Amino acid sequence: MSKLEKNIKEFYETDGKTYKYHRWERNPIMKFDYQCTKEAIEQVLSNISGSSVLEIGPGPGTWTEFLVAHFEVVHALDISSTMIEQAKQNPKLSEVEFTNANFADFETTKTYDAIFSVRSFEYFDDKEAFIQKASQLLNPNGHLVILTKNARSYWFGRTKVRTVLQKIFPFLLKYDEENVPEKSRKKINLFKQKRTYPSQLRQLYKKHHIQYNYHYPVIARPPIFMRGKTEIPLIPPSLEKATLSIFRAFNSIIKRIPYATFFAEGFVMVGKKGND
Ligand SMILES: C[S@@+](CC[C@H](N)C(=O)[O-])C[C@H]1O[C@@H](n2cnc3c(N)ncnc32)[C@H](O)[C@@H]1O
Repeated sequence: MSKLEKNIKEFYETDGKTYKYHRWERNPIMKFDYQCTKEAIEQVLSNISGSSVLEIGPGPGTWTEFLVAHFEVVHALDISSTMIEQAKQNPKLSEVEFTNANFADFETTKTYDAIFSVRSFEYFDDKEAFIQKASQLLNPNGHLVILTKNARSYWFGRTKVRTVLQKIFPFLLKYDEENVPEKSRKKINLFKQKRTYPSQLRQLYKKHHIQYNYHYPVIARPPIFMRGKTEIPLIPPSLEKATLSIFRAFNSIIKRIPYATFFAEGFVMVGKKGND
């Protein structure tokens, strides 16, 4: 295991217990992000069929629930044992086979009709090794679905803006700070996520015999909430509801336009393994 992989594992062994709450549940902004991601996953699932799926980096099983409803056999693999323990507590996931392993070191003779990776691709340094391995594990005509953070987006650079604002107006950050658990705050510098350009992922798909089908923006809103996680603190809690309803309308227009990924935090790309 590389140093980066060890650091990611260490981080999620600690953060795993509260991850779901802090990422998808803790306030209306997180719930908005959850809803956008859920809609994207449901849309993708409505267009693909098959009986088996491998999920890479399920975390606490947030999206595994949707895979269970769609596939007969669900295998979920995560580097963090804490995350897997969280997922196992969900009664809806009782039939899922869980493996605690680093995807880079994972060995199996099985192949799958689909591979899903939701918000874990950004943790992989070697993107090509990931795609190559995923392609090897797919059956002919199997689907590769990657939902990840977007490198060319107006989300990029927000941490720098935050740091400047924090120095000038420290009170602006009070909502965010009180919501981030102490342990996570200390460990946050252990690793850096690597965002991807849709064009880069498309090329990797092609190189490794995955025929590109489509990609769409996911979470199309600007990062401007005081209670958002590391966002530019402009919108106070009192204006959240009104602002989110505007973004909901914006999101529903943008989410079907592949080249509008600049306006989104992430994107989902779907491809199909060729027969050769
Ligand atoms: C940000 S969480 C996403 C969890 C879940 N998919 C979600 O969207 O809520 C990333 C997950 O990927 C896992 N992960 C990161 N690197 C990994 C690796 N090399 N092999 C397997 N899992 C990995 C982490 O342990 C973590 O559970």
